[in-house]
Amino acid sequence: MIAQLVVASTRAELDDAVARLRLDGGTVAFVPTMGALHDGHAELVRRARAECANVVVSAYVNPLQFGAGEDLDRYPRTPDADAAIVARAGADVLWRPGDDDVHGASAGPAERAGGLGAVLEGLARPGHFDGVATVVARLLRAVAPDVLYLGEKDFQQLAVVRALVDRLGLPVRVRAVPTVRDVDGLALSSRNAYLDADDRCRAASIPRALDAATTSVAAGERSAAAVQAVVLDALTDGGVQDVDYVAIVDPLTLDPVDRLDHPAQLLVAVRVGATRLIDNLRLDPPHVPRETP
Ligand code: PAJ
Repeated sequence: MIAQLVVASTRAELDDAVARLRLDGGTVAFVPTMGALHDGHAELVRRARAECANVVVSAYVNPLQFGAGEDLDRYPRTPDADAAIVARAGADVLWRPGDDDVHGASAGPAERAGGLGAVLEGLARPGHFDGVATVVARLLRAVAPDVLYLGEKDFQQLAVVRALVDRLGLPVRVRAVPTVRDVDGLALSSRNAYLDADDRCRAASIPRALDAATTSVAAGERSAAAVQAVVLDALTDGGVQDVDYVAIVDPLTLDPVDRLDHPAQLLVAVRVGATRLIDNLRLDPPHVPRETP
């Protein structure tokens, strides 16, 4: 039997829907989103469905994580399609709160993302991760799930939220879901809707650049600077001129690494046309046995 999706708007409707789920017992999974859903979001819901008895999804465009001059007003909003996608992926509840339901009377961010939020995306988008940390903390307190599902697509966000959950001692497990990609390798993103055909072609050089890094590491390259140069070349060759960063960092601390002697995370941020796109990939240097003297 396919369970009926309950769409909740107010906080009271959410509380009621979650209380009903809790009556049945079993774990509650939570997938926070900003709507404009695509198959990457659906994969999070499917994963949650497969692993937990109950699945709650939120769709809320959080003003606190948008900077001045960013795309808050034109962020795509597709409520009907969103409901169809989460229903098909097996969610029980879709919560579409208003600003007051989430942030109440408080205007600004209440949580700080700290050092993890200050680097990489945080440099280009000051305050962004404070806004993310604040909304995630508030959504988690409202839904009180057992398991939180996040995508690896937003790798820094994942690191910030893991640290937040630890710091606040929230009783929730964080599950990371691998990035879902289009046929040409481009990571699915709601912002891909902004790309025209030319931009879309250029954007496809992002996954090619990540692949080039994997190939280079597999061939024995251990210098992070050399791998960064390979990535930059591939981006430039593919027509991406405006590169914000190509970083190779420790996956937990996000500190830059010089040598690829351990697994590291490659993160890129570029601008294609007017659209900022991010992607990332794990770099796993193959273990080379030490020569015996
Ligand atoms: P949003 O960009 O809508 O993404 C919601 C979730 O979907 C995030 O965990 C994100 O990492 C994941 N996701 C997006 N694209 C994906 C892809 N191609 N493959 C796998 N997962 C993908 O991230 C946010 O919203 C917001 O910052 C939020 C956490 C909801 C707080 O407002």
